[in-house]
Amino acid sequence: MTRTVYVNAEYLPEDQAKVSVFDRGFVMADGVYEVTSVLDGKLIDFAGHLARLKRSLDGLQMKNPLSDDEYLAAHRRLVAENGVTDGMVYLQVTRGNPGDRDFAFPPEDTQPTVVMFTQSKPGLADSPAAQTGWKVITTEDLRWARRDIKTVQLLFPSLAKMEAKAKGADDAWLVEDGRVTEGTSNNAYIVKGGVIVTRELSNDILHGITRAAVLRFAREAQMQVEERSFTVAEAQAADEAFVTSASSFVMPVVAIDGQPIGDGKVGGVARRLREIYLEESRKAAI
Ligand code: PDD
Repeated sequence: MTRTVYVNAEYLPEDQAKVSVFDRGFVMADGVYEVTSVLDGKLIDFAGHLARLKRSLDGLQMKNPLSDDEYLAAHRRLVAENGVTDGMVYLQVTRGNPGDRDFAFPPEDTQPTVVMFTQSKPGLADSPAAQTGWKVITTEDLRWARRDIKTVQLLFPSLAKMEAKAKGADDAWLVEDGRVTEGTSNNAYIVKGGVIVTRELSNDILHGITRAAVLRFAREAQMQVEERSFTVAEAQAADEAFVTSASSFVMPVVAIDGQPIGDGKVGGVARRLREIYLEESRKAAI
């Protein structure tokens, strides 16, 4: 089936959806993005994703080209036209097409480029991987220092993902100064003695929308949460580990650099948090 793709207020068949070779997103990775998951045809945590989009745009001194209602209408139209029951909507905003390549920002009146498309993933919430858990490797975090801005500069995370695959693992945890920052495209957690530990918010990590929701649900369920960084050795000695993101929800991690975590099976805290997250998110979906 040919997908309908949104490009600058037009809804086009994917083979006709095009942006300029001079687009700042293409030549400078000068753009930001969001990924919102879709369950039962509804958007999960959409308000959170829009809030972070604005934060990312502000971080790059880019203006916000659409209103909240316009983003919402476009997301809903794409989900409906593409028949997405479960999956994701990808949204990207770039600084637009200045008509040439230049390090300086284009003139103020240059129109940002806005692209949205859907990815259909039937059964996304019932992923078999959630039953067995992911194996992760660790690798040095060589990304730039503003990881709180969700830019489209994803080359290093992509390389780290490939390193993980080459080693027979599912993902990589990135490490800076001996402490885990986050996964290639998710936030990282460990559980020890019933306490959930995840790195505190700063410029060092993306402020995950799923992270915010999961920590809120954990606290509401009287679970103890500590927001602080942890070492790889501490993670390997933990009872459980897991990651969160819009596309994986809560995904258990069962091994780090070949070392099984706890008994090497999916842990009870991760399992419970996944259940709560999915249940509450489905209820609040729009
Ligand atoms: N990635 N950290 C990084 C580096 C990420 O790229 C992501 C999301 C997260 C989790 O954020 P959220 O819970 O808001 O999805 C953390 C998306 C899913 C992606 O790039 O596909």
